[in-house]
Amino acid sequence: MTPRLELKNICKEFAGRQVVSDLSLSVAPGQVTCLLGPSGCGKSTTLRIIAGVEHQTSGEIWVDGKLISGDDVRVPPEGRSIGLMFQDFALFPHLSVAQNVAFGLTGSKADNTPRVGELLERVGLSGFDDKYPHELSGGEQQRVALARALAPRPKIMLMDEPFSGLDDRLRDGIRDQTLSVLKEAGTAVLLVTHEPHEAMRMADEIALMRGGRIVQQGNPYNLYNAPVDKEAAAFFSDINVIRGQSNGALTDTPFGQFLTPGHADGGAVEIVIRPQHLKIDFDRSGHGPNPTPQDGTPARAVVTRARFMGRESLVEFRMESDGSYLKATVPAVFLPNEGTTLWLTMRRDRCFVFPA
Ligand SMILES: Nc1ncnc2c1ncn2[C@@H]1O[C@H](COP(=O)(O)OP(=O)(O)OP(=O)(O)O)[C@@H](O)[C@H]1O
Ligand SMILES: [Mg+2]
Repeated sequence: MTPRLELKNICKEFAGRQVVSDLSLSVAPGQVTCLLGPSGCGKSTTLRIIAGVEHQTSGEIWVDGKLISGDDVRVPPEGRSIGLMFQDFALFPHLSVAQNVAFGLTGSKADNTPRVGELLERVGLSGFDDKYPHELSGGEQQRVALARALAPRPKIMLMDEPFSGLDDRLRDGIRDQTLSVLKEAGTAVLLVTHEPHEAMRMADEIALMRGGRIVQQGNPYNLYNAPVDKEAAAFFSDINVIRGQSNGALTDTPFGQFLTPGHADGGAVEIVIRPQHLKIDFDRSGHGPNPTPQDGTPARAVVTRARFMGRESLVEFRMESDGSYLKATVPAVFLPNEGTTLWLTMRRDRCFVFPA
């Protein structure tokens, strides 16, 4: 299938500094792709280039197999059939809800009325036609902005942190509603966020960016469970890092030996595990659970801090072996006392091994 939106090797320099580097990706109709990354990594710049308000230094943009922006082609923003929804989406304060939604439509008022009504119904705001923006809550305004962006039936929707001004409860509802409206319309969506949970909740595909480049791209499950490096792992949750030295494809740690093939002999190795994958066991008169191939060797650690967080507890440990600290999250029914000695194991299939 021809992608709805395709970026080929996009580069952008500002005053000699490269802020987007060789960025390529494609988005199919009805697909949601998230650009996820820390502040300043080039997410908004990428969206502005696609929208046509900024021009790339090199590279091409294709829509439905047609070149719309390249060295010799530059379709202006209004000719790109791209809808925009940004964090500071401003509704026109002097226009009613219906007039705001109809703003990008070309027909007469009578022609547009059914479309406006249909859109307001889709975003759950039937009957709000004659209200003015100041009479609406933040979430209602956001839904009007969505209806306005959808009205001209854009092929592509670019969204830049569109939900960040909303409180958590409202945000989840509006996010899900927005998604279903966009999917139903077959719109290709490129959504910018720096929140991994928002990306995982919304995206079919995540493009993880760092320093102007895509460092990893795939579905949320793959990014979470097979990160390309320590930073990619750390972007989605807290992590624990155990350091060791590779010795003949093996690395010794307080949790037993790890197979670390492909790492240079004597090279420093980092073993990364998320807090929810550390297993905790009680002290059974001086020895912990028996070592197994799946869990490796247990290691003793003292609880230095335990916090009840509602659904889970966050427990911090100091390892007896080397005094290093590890974090574990466990179901909240378990809240050990500080000073308790417990045994930790690391499920081997939940560990990521990277060169240090
Ligand atoms: N018009 C400009 N002139 C010069 N530098 C710019 C311009 N626009 C953006 N930059 C720089 O390009 C880099 C990327 O900016 P961009 O706005 O794309 O980041 P971002 O990933 O959207 O960050 P955030 O999450 O904070 O919104 C930043 O270092 C920024 O200072
Ligand atoms: Mg930005």
